[in-house]
Amino acid sequence: MHGLYLASVTLHILAAVTWIGGMFFLVLVVVPWLRRGNRAAAGAFLRETGLAFRTVGWVCFGILVVTGTFNLWVRGVRLETFANRAWLASSAGHAVTLKLLVFALVIAVSAVHDFRLGPRAAAEIEADPDSHVAHRLRRQASWLGRVNVLFALALVVLGVIIVRGW
Ligand code: HEM
Repeated sequence: MHGLYLASVTLHILAAVTWIGGMFFLVLVVVPWLRRGNRAAAGAFLRETGLAFRTVGWVCFGILVVTGTFNLWVRGVRLETFANRAWLASSAGHAVTLKLLVFALVIAVSAVHDFRLGPRAAAEIEADPDSHVAHRLRRQASWLGRVNVLFALALVVLGVIIVRGW
C-alpha cells in the first residue's frame, strides 16, 4: 500500500507541475512573443496550441482528482469526515476544504476560459486581429488565465500545508 501511496503523490505532483508549467510557458513566453509578432498568425497559433494545451490541462485535472482523493483516503479522510465539525475546525480540515474550494474555482475558471472565451478570442484574433471585439476577448481571456495562475500557486501552497501543517 505504501508503494501505491508514493506513486500517487508522485503522479499528483507531476500532474501539478505539467499544468502549472504549461500555464507559465503560455503566459510568460508565448503570449508576449505573439504580441511582438505577426498578429494574424497569432490567432491560428493560439487556437491550435490552446486546444492542445486544453486537453493536457483537463487530463491533469483528472489525474489530480483521482490521486488527490486517494491521498486524502490514505490520510484517513472519508466523505463522512466532511460532516465532522471538529475535523472541519481543525488545521488539517481547513487546509483540505480550502484546497477543494480553490480547485472548484480553478475548474470553473478553466471551463469558461478553455471552452468559451479562449476559442472565441482566438477565432476573433484570426478573423481580424485589430478589431475591438478581438482586443476585448483577448484581454478577458488573458485575465482569466492570470487568475488561474494565482489559484494554481495557492493550490501548491495548500498541498504543502496539508503535508506539513500551517
Ligand atoms: C490543480 C490542482 C492541484 C494542485 C496544483 C495540487 C498540488 C499539490 C502539491 C504540489 C502537493 C504536494 C505537497 C507536498 O508534498 O509538499 C499536493 C499534495 C496533496 N494534494 Fe494536491 N493539488 C491539486 C489538486 C488536489 C485535489 C483536487 C485534491 C483532492 C481531491 C488534492 C489533495 C492533495 C493531498 C491529500 C495532498 C497530500 C499528499 C500527501 O499525502 O503527501 N490536491 N498537492
